[in-house]
Amino acid sequence: NVLILDFGSQYTQLIARRVRELNIYCEIHPYHHIPEDLESFKAVILSGSPFSVRSEDAPHPKLENIKGEIPLLAVCYGAQYLAQFYGGSVEPSNIREYGRANLSTIIGEEVLFAGIPEETQVWMSHSDTIAQLPERGIRLASTNDVKNAAYRIGGEETYGIQFHPEVYHTEHGKLLLENFLIHVAGLKRNWTPAHFVEETVQDLKDKVGDGKVVLGLSGGVDSTVAAVLLNKAIGDNLYCIFVNNGLLRKNEFDSVLEQYKGMGLNVKGVDASARFLRALSGLSDPELKRKAIGKTFIEVFDDEAHLLEDVEWLGQGTIYPDVIESVSVNGPSVTIKSHHNVGGLPDYMKLKIVEPLRMLFKDEVRRVGHELGIDSELLGRHPFPGPGLAIRILGTITEEKVSILQEVDDVFISGLRRWNLYDDIWQAGAILLPVQSVGVMGDERTYERVVALRAVESTDGMTADWVDLPHEFLQEISNHIINRVKGVNRVVYDISSKPPATIEWE
Ligand code: XMP
Repeated sequence: NVLILDFGSQYTQLIARRVRELNIYCEIHPYHHIPEDLESFKAVILSGSPFSVRSEDAPHPKLENIKGEIPLLAVCYGAQYLAQFYGGSVEPSNIREYGRANLSTIIGEEVLFAGIPEETQVWMSHSDTIAQLPERGIRLASTNDVKNAAYRIGGEETYGIQFHPEVYHTEHGKLLLENFLIHVAGLKRNWTPAHFVEETVQDLKDKVGDGKVVLGLSGGVDSTVAAVLLNKAIGDNLYCIFVNNGLLRKNEFDSVLEQYKGMGLNVKGVDASARFLRALSGLSDPELKRKAIGKTFIEVFDDEAHLLEDVEWLGQGTIYPDVIESVSVNGPSVTIKSHHNVGGLPDYMKLKIVEPLRMLFKDEVRRVGHELGIDSELLGRHPFPGPGLAIRILGTITEEKVSILQEVDDVFISGLRRWNLYDDIWQAGAILLPVQSVGVMGDERTYERVVALRAVESTDGMTADWVDLPHEFLQEISNHIINRVKGVNRVVYDISSKPPATIEWE
């Protein structure tokens, strides 16, 4: 087990993902909540930070029980922090170093740099520099502008590096992490999907026993993998509820329900389309639509859960990025959109929560899904928002609009599959605009709707760029849509990146 102490860097989660890719388990904790059971950690990594160590409000945690006791790798701010507080010094540098730099390693025999060439590209992002190393500091590497780019502390397994090993542009970053974790700290590569499944199923059996669990399936990867794990542990004591809010993709409710049954899940499909439509009636503000859908979902789920007897547990597909306690650097962040998923049920349900995926990143959930034998088509599905097509129909929602958008979306998505483009895209969908435009079909003048197509690449949805789809493809899809979907006479393609746009239009 590896402890990553977070000082608020945008790259902290990336460090964790790199460590996990080495099949080594790690946890992120904020610098001001260092876990008490330090014995359970075999290595510690200090993250970077947007702060300057020289500033008064910068993080200054006590490291007595860590430094010199547990193998320690301090990255960027971490390395400066060690220097500043253990006898060295940090100064503002004349040259702010951002981006690529060429690192020259000085000592060839050093374990941390084993297998790494003496000259290698690294990625820097800092404006302070370590002027003087801490006590017993031994310089290991430099760049043109940074004398102390890597150091070790004599007599300890403590290392400091100014560059970021976790980012893609640091050529041998993964090897450096591997050297530290495996050769310095002696960790084993035992964090594998198979191991996770085995351990989690056992834990779930111990925790839940003969208890009954109710879980809301959404058709997405997380809730599905959570359900299959629970099913493996407790069998038919897992009661799954799959709600049709009437805002899913075309045929999705029936086909996914069939798929779930085929997987042996004890699942009840509840068609509540009419109830959702009623709740949405007359609403056009995106946040009000989201709230109405969230509230209705809870009511439907609650009604269904009450039909079950003696349920004690609520299962959820929560994943690690949602539970990491974040270090707030710029004060509370503003709500851009109030996302809601199949989570957040009201307290009065008084159920205990079980979240088998709460320590996994998204890519790990997929790998666990493969290990469990879940269909790769289901695991590779694009993310789909909880409020579904309601936030892709700008303005008010009617049954007719939903059905038009379902047809358009179906032409687009099945086209992406046919052209083998689907798997290279992070998320795609169609948007129905509250605009009508003039067209001509045959000799008739038309006055019909406009739809927008959107396809983006991204890794986590936080930033995204539009995909440059082949023009022949767009041409074919546009023709199909206009010829086949009644009520649409114009198709446009969205070429905005996030930021400043968002992925969804509402
Ligand atoms: P935005 O539009 O904020 O979307 O760039 C980022 C990701 O979040 C999804 N999204 C939602 N998911 N409930 C959800 O469960 C929501 O209200 C919601 N709004 C956006 C969006 O599909 C994209 O994957």
